[in-house]
Amino acid sequence: MHIKNIGIVGAGQMGAGIAQVCAQNGFETILYDIQVELAEKGQSVIAKNLDRLVEKEKITIEQKKEAMARLKIATDLKTLVTTQLVIEAATENEKIKLDIFESLDQVCPKEAILASNTSSIPITKIASVTKRPQNVIGMHFMNPVPVMKLVEIIKGLLTSEETYTSIFDMTRALKKESVLVEDFPGFLVNRILCPMINEAVFALESGISTAEDIDKAMKLGTNQPMGPLELADFIGLDTCLAIMKVLHEGLGEDKFRPAPLLRKYVQAGLLGRKTGRGFYKY
Ligand SMILES: NC(=O)c1ccc[n+]([C@@H]2O[C@H](COP(=O)([O-])OP(=O)(O)OC[C@H]3O[C@@H](n4cnc5c(N)ncnc54)[C@H](O)[C@@H]3O)[C@@H](O)[C@H]2O)c1
Repeated sequence: MHIKNIGIVGAGQMGAGIAQVCAQNGFETILYDIQVELAEKGQSVIAKNLDRLVEKEKITIEQKKEAMARLKIATDLKTLVTTQLVIEAATENEKIKLDIFESLDQVCPKEAILASNTSSIPITKIASVTKRPQNVIGMHFMNPVPVMKLVEIIKGLLTSEETYTSIFDMTRALKKESVLVEDFPGFLVNRILCPMINEAVFALESGISTAEDIDKAMKLGTNQPMGPLELADFIGLDTCLAIMKVLHEGLGEDKFRPAPLLRKYVQAGLLGRKTGRGFYKY
C-alpha cells in the first residue's frame, strides 16, 4: 500500500515527534489526543521545533508552513476514518492500548494498517483485540523522534509480509533507517540497552563507583554519547523499571531482575529529568 494519510494517537513526547516527521516528509497527518488542550500542546511543540529548524537554516520558512498545513489535530477518533495508517503513541498502559486498538479497528477502513509505538507490550497481544491481526505491526521510534535515525519494526505472530513491506517503505519515506525484529519482550534495543542501564545501577548500589564516574567510564571508555545513569534519567526511571519488569517476567531469567536501587528511586518519585531529580539533580 502506498501510504499518504496518517493518524497519530497520543500527542505527547513521542506522538508529537512522530507527527512532526510525518508532516515534514509530505504525509497528511492527523494528531489525535483525548483532550483538545493536549492535542494543541502537541501541535505547538511541533511549531516550536520547526521554528528552531528554520533559525538553524535546516529548513525554509516555506517548508515549515507546508508541514504545518499538512498537520491537523483531532479529539474525535472517527476523524481517523480517512487514514491508511494509524500510529498509536499513547501512554504505556496495556488496558489503554488494547481499548484504543479495539476502537481503531471499528473506526478505520478495513485495509488500514494499525501500528503501535509501544516499548514493551507484545504486538501479538495488541493485534489479538482487532479483527485484522495481519495489519497490526510495531513501529518503535526512538526519543527524540526528529533526531534519532532508527525505527524498530516489530512483526507480531500474524503480521503479513505486505504490511511489513508498506511500513518498511513508509519508514524510508520518513528518512529513517529500520531493523526488523520479532515480537519478543523488550524487542531489540531495550533488550540490550535496559540491562546495561540496570547493571550500572547495580554498580552504583554496590559502591563500585560514583554515578559521575560510572557515566564518565562508559562515555570515555566505550565512546557512548551519554553515560548509562544520565541516560536513565533522560528516559525516566519509571520507564526503565517497567521495561526491566517486562524482560524479567517475559524471559524468566534472573539476569533481568531490576536493581533494588532502581525500584527505590521510583518509589521515592525520583524519576529523572521529568521530576527534576533522579541519579542527578536538574
Ligand atoms: N519516551 C520515550 O523515550 C519513548 C521511546 C520509545 C517509545 N515510547 C513509547 O511511546 C508511547 C508514548 O510515550 P510518551 O513518552 O510520548 O508518553 P507521554 O506521556 O508524553 O504521552 C502520552 C500521550 O497519550 C495520551 N493518551 C492517553 N490515553 C489516551 C487515549 N486513550 N487516546 C489517545 N491518547 C491518549 C496522553 O494524553 C498523552 O498526551 C508509549 O507507548 C511509550 O512506551 C516512549
